Amino acid sequence: MSDHWTKLEQNRSRTFRRPILDLFDDGGRFDTFSAETDGLMLDFSKTSIDRSAHSILLDLAKSSGVAEKRDAMFRGDRINSTENRSVLHTALRASDSQPLVVDGRDINQDVAATLNLMERFCDGVRSGSIASATGERFTDVVNIGIGGSDLGPAMASHALTPYRDGPRCHFVSNVDGAHISDTLKALDPGTTLVIIASKTFTTTETMTNAGTALNWLRDALGEGAAQNLAAVSTAMDRTSEMGIAPDRVFGFADWVGGRYSLWGPIGLPIMLSIGRDDFRDFLSGGAAMDRHFRSASFEDNLPVLLGLVGIWHRNICQYPTRAVIPYDQRLARLPAYLQQLDMESNGKCVSVAGRPLDRPSGPIVWGEPGTNGQHAFFQLLHQGTEVIPVEFLVAAECHEENLKNHHDLLKANCLAQSEALMIGRTLEQATDIAAGLGYSGRELRIQSAHRTFPGNRPSTTLVYRKLSPFSLGQIIALYEHRVFVEGAIWGINSFDQWGVELGKELANALLPMVQGQSVSGKDPSTRGLVRRLSA
Ligand code: F6P
Repeated sequence: MSDHWTKLEQNRSRTFRRPILDLFDDGGRFDTFSAETDGLMLDFSKTSIDRSAHSILLDLAKSSGVAEKRDAMFRGDRINSTENRSVLHTALRASDSQPLVVDGRDINQDVAATLNLMERFCDGVRSGSIASATGERFTDVVNIGIGGSDLGPAMASHALTPYRDGPRCHFVSNVDGAHISDTLKALDPGTTLVIIASKTFTTTETMTNAGTALNWLRDALGEGAAQNLAAVSTAMDRTSEMGIAPDRVFGFADWVGGRYSLWGPIGLPIMLSIGRDDFRDFLSGGAAMDRHFRSASFEDNLPVLLGLVGIWHRNICQYPTRAVIPYDQRLARLPAYLQQLDMESNGKCVSVAGRPLDRPSGPIVWGEPGTNGQHAFFQLLHQGTEVIPVEFLVAAECHEENLKNHHDLLKANCLAQSEALMIGRTLEQATDIAAGLGYSGRELRIQSAHRTFPGNRPSTTLVYRKLSPFSLGQIIALYEHRVFVEGAIWGINSFDQWGVELGKELANALLPMVQGQSVSGKDPSTRGLVRRLSA
């Protein structure tokens, strides 16, 4: 395996000055450096990966045991070793008649039963047969959750707005009282369903917001408040302690990681919003990507290829971040969602065996929708001193039939950005432009320098026909498996998240101090800040 790394590094040191554009000279690059499944196409031809690097990267994936690790995940092996858990979010979207036995239970049956419960509840809420304590139909849903219990359903509900024919969904995550206060202020408790979503049902932010929402419901509805509540959790004992009726609790098992959980009960707001059939299409999109990941050769396998592009950029080109830019306003929350998926999974510095990693792992993931980003940070992408690989996403078709002119502009802008990043503008070209504007002498030199674009900046483009439940399911599952491929190559456990724990412990200890108790055992900076904030 180390041999592959060495070969990749040698390739890079030989070729790093070569323009990406020159790679197209051998013809056929666009076809070879793109792959497609079920209408979803990944183009990675605008990267510096050449034929030789491409083949070494594929060998690296093979020799890193990506296929064996993938099969172990789908089989239900306990690959989340530090928590001794299987990793089976894929079972939530499988609709598989073959039993999948985990801890002596056929989990496929459990998944089907839970999906049925969700559908019955969802149909009832949407039709009005499950009504508020006041007897009215629910017009609004407030989902209270954070991290995986918020980002997935919030991102997907927004993405699927054209399919919404159910109640409006609102999402409260932050413990900052401003979030719940501003959300509830605009709503009528008599027509609002509150869903408390927490895998553990212990998360401070969610429990605090749940308490506030419960008081809001009780003030308006008295004893009937429970009628306007539902919960989603793996901890049924804790939900009953909060007084939530068992038939209003949708459970899931610990083999679903928080950031992988929107396919099951955590996706309840999505189902309430778009209905059971469209939700099933969403699951089908995820399942289609699973089949592709399991069966396509690595040469044609989108998650493997996207993962290898990530490895090339992070480890061989040593780019510390990657930008995700959806040219799709409805995917505005995708970058935030991917930040958790990617950075909570692969932001690790030790291997599965607990040894320090010998090369950098997960990059910083960030982004905003295009075209907005163009008028903000794209300056740095084009002319900054750091190279940042960009992952563009764009649909061939829009939902707004009467606004096709907007969509044409969106597509043209997306393509223009990846082209500009790659081709840049030489000093000679810039000088011609500046001379044409009438500059000469010293001014000409200065103006030309400012108008030069280094180019040779890599990007990938993911193209889907239209943002639908099915294509959204494909896209999310693609990114899940991409994270898996990268984690497998780095030798990481991508399914635990110990790095979030220390801050939680320290916050618990600090709470009494910010509430006025004397500050002890803290460093001088923290002490000083506690005093300043308590003043
Ligand atoms: O603190 C991180 C985390 O544990 C995430 O992994 C998780 O998605 C989030 O908190 C919320 O956790 P829960 O669903 O248990 O409230």
